[in-house]
Amino acid sequence: MKQSHQTVLITGGSSGIGLSLAKKFMEHHNTVIITGRNLAKLEKVKAQYPKIHIYQSDVTKDTDVQLLANNIIQDFKGLDVLINNAGIMNLVDAGNETNDLQKQFNEIEINYNSPIRMLHYFLPMLKKSKNAVLINVSSGLAYVTFSQAPVYSGTKSALHFWTQAIRPQLKQHNIKVVELLPPVVDTKLAEDADLKDDNLKPMPPEKLADIFWKEYGRGKEEITPGISNILRIMSRLAPGFIFKQLNRQPIPTNRS
Ligand SMILES: NC(=O)c1ccc[n+]([C@@H]2O[C@H](COP(=O)([O-])OP(=O)(O)OC[C@H]3O[C@@H](n4cnc5c(N)ncnc54)[C@H](OP(=O)(O)O)[C@@H]3O)[C@@H](O)[C@H]2O)c1
Repeated sequence: MKQSHQTVLITGGSSGIGLSLAKKFMEHHNTVIITGRNLAKLEKVKAQYPKIHIYQSDVTKDTDVQLLANNIIQDFKGLDVLINNAGIMNLVDAGNETNDLQKQFNEIEINYNSPIRMLHYFLPMLKKSKNAVLINVSSGLAYVTFSQAPVYSGTKSALHFWTQAIRPQLKQHNIKVVELLPPVVDTKLAEDADLKDDNLKPMPPEKLADIFWKEYGRGKEEITPGISNILRIMSRLAPGFIFKQLNRQPIPTNRS
């Protein structure tokens, strides 16, 4: 796996896991482009890391993604690595009829439909690269569903299956497909969802990026740091047991 002198695009790179991956790719002499919805957040990152390239772009908007693709062709002449990282997590009680339906659909739009949209518009560039890689950031919850975040769990397992399905197809076009399935990581997403658990210490994003980098370098296709690997194994060995362990409190107390 070529790990330097590549042009890398990371959606949702202005914080958390996306930013830690951006820093890792920059350390190794890659050209790194990040996107996000909030321009002020992107500009703050740019002020701290002047070499990073920023574009305000919402992954759910077709026009934004098409414009981003045009800008990247113009400014960088192409793309080698596309990282579908942008994502959100809502805690939802499906037994509550006052839930905001649109908010749930938007979660599907960001977490699942948008990686498909990104690949669609960036495919011509990836096909032209000699070292093309598509990296999808799903979640350890793709292996074992988490009742407190039912829509999120559904989107991440859908992303996991889509990733597996397209891998042999894109191989025919010399595009490698990698999936990063993070455990609970210390980011705004985990903090907002109040995923703190006395038994589970969130992984620092920098540590996640270190693990990713080593496994990515070795050419691993499914990268499962920390507890994600336990979820992967347990979902096969004892699916009922691990489901119960993860879902002792199925109703969220911190509903958004
Ligand atoms: N943290 C965890 O415990 C954990 C565990 C497993 C998997 N993951 C996955 O890791 C990925 C990154 O999450 P994180 O924890 O790093 O969260 P985070 O710190 O909240 O970062 C999310 C990033 O996505 C961007 N974003 C959100 N919606 C977007 C949209 N519509 N268009 C473009 N950018 C958008 C955000 O910027 P703006 O708000 O400015 O758009 C931000 O840069 C997600 O896919 C998440 O599901 C996280």
